[in-house]
Amino acid sequence: SKGAALVAAVAQRLVARRRQVDAALAPFRLNHSQLQLVKARMRAGLEAGLRSNQSAMKMLPSFVYQMPDGTEHGKYLAFDLGGTNFRALLVKFKKGLQQNTRLYHKIYTIPLEIMQGTGEDLFDHLAECIGDFLDYMGIKNARLPAGFTFSFPCEQTSLNTGTLVNWTKGFKATDCEGHDVVNLLREAIKRRNEFDLDIVALVNDTVGTMMSCAYEDPQCEIGLIAGTGSNVCYMEEVKNIVKIQDPDKKGETEDGRNTEKMCINIEWGGLGDDGSLDDIITPYDTEVDQNSVHPGKQRFEKLTSGMYLGEVVRHVLLNLTRKGLLFRGHVSETLKTPGIFETKYLSQIERDRLALLQIRSILQQLGLHGTCDDSIIVKEVCAEVSRRAAQLCGAGMAAVVDKIRENRGLERLNTTVGVDGALYKLHPHFSIVLQETTRVLAPQCHVTFLPSEEGSGKGAALITAVAI
Ligand code: GLC
Repeated sequence: SKGAALVAAVAQRLVARRRQVDAALAPFRLNHSQLQLVKARMRAGLEAGLRSNQSAMKMLPSFVYQMPDGTEHGKYLAFDLGGTNFRALLVKFKKGLQQNTRLYHKIYTIPLEIMQGTGEDLFDHLAECIGDFLDYMGIKNARLPAGFTFSFPCEQTSLNTGTLVNWTKGFKATDCEGHDVVNLLREAIKRRNEFDLDIVALVNDTVGTMMSCAYEDPQCEIGLIAGTGSNVCYMEEVKNIVKIQDPDKKGETEDGRNTEKMCINIEWGGLGDDGSLDDIITPYDTEVDQNSVHPGKQRFEKLTSGMYLGEVVRHVLLNLTRKGLLFRGHVSETLKTPGIFETKYLSQIERDRLALLQIRSILQQLGLHGTCDDSIIVKEVCAEVSRRAAQLCGAGMAAVVDKIRENRGLERLNTTVGVDGALYKLHPHFSIVLQETTRVLAPQCHVTFLPSEEGSGKGAALITAVAI
């Protein structure tokens, strides 16, 4: 009976541990009405951003009015500064032959000291990479038209001018905010004095992704990035973009083309920067925000994107360990290291049918030594955090598709979202939960999610082609 007492004691401890873990994870579980509230706040944010520049979501006009129609042809360059690297592309389109697009590219990493150094060094670095690419392709003297995908909020006044409003994600290079980034790139190229470029378009990655998917599917009118950052663009009626109403220009560009709709870069990562998400933000999210490169900013992005999900997980694990519920209560140096839980580990740990031993060995590779029980809990934490991210994106997407549906006075809407980003493409559950949540919260819309290939770069080349 001594044995029985021991078993009972162990069982009791396990139950207690279970309860405490559950309690710690409860704030991540959003119920239907909470998600509906998020949808409503996203919707209100869309309307506020169309009216004024002072709102949490910037709703930035892109000056992209038209989708590709298959007549695009010729050679274009595209340069893509995203979350973690810089990509240079040469894209060749053949008329009417989607399948026959040829694409050459090279990827350059951006060292942290360049991301967070001076603006001049950053743009000099980009110009150097461009020079290297032109050499590599043997086209240094060709002066091809180029599109510049720049995945940060820019206040545009035309297709190829745009002032960086503020850096987001991991960038904070000096003397760029408030400046025209196309000019900054042109000046760096001039300083290099090696080659010439004709920069025709400045493009957000969401817009590039939408365009490249629209090339395959004419129903595509929304672009989603679920990667290092999180953001959406969509085609809005120009008459609804109250803040840029110019009665003389309504509905036409200078050359008289039809401009009833314009693509708007929502910058939905900014939702909540005015406190509107405070009721769902957990203490772990607050920790992540406070220790981030831009505290207080991009609150929705910090709940939903690859750059932050691993950090949220790490803070939960820290808390559970401090309470003695994980890793035998031992807070290791590894666990205290910011950034160690990259999204790719979340994707690996959450894979179905992964044996606990495999999770344990992933954790061991990271320097986290635990038991199989610890592995179960770590996997649960990852699942709660990524599930919430997908649900929040679904709630946001529901607001966007319902707005488009109402714009058109439709009972039902069929539409396609072009998508890119590692969280969407590589995580085992994110895309399914996102689609399911969108379906439940926008029952009058049938939404197809189309993963883009070479999305934002090819899209910038297409926008350049359409513009020319
Ligand atoms: C950040 C940027 C936004 C970009 C997104 C995805 O939210 O502010 O411009 O689209 O990341 O890369």
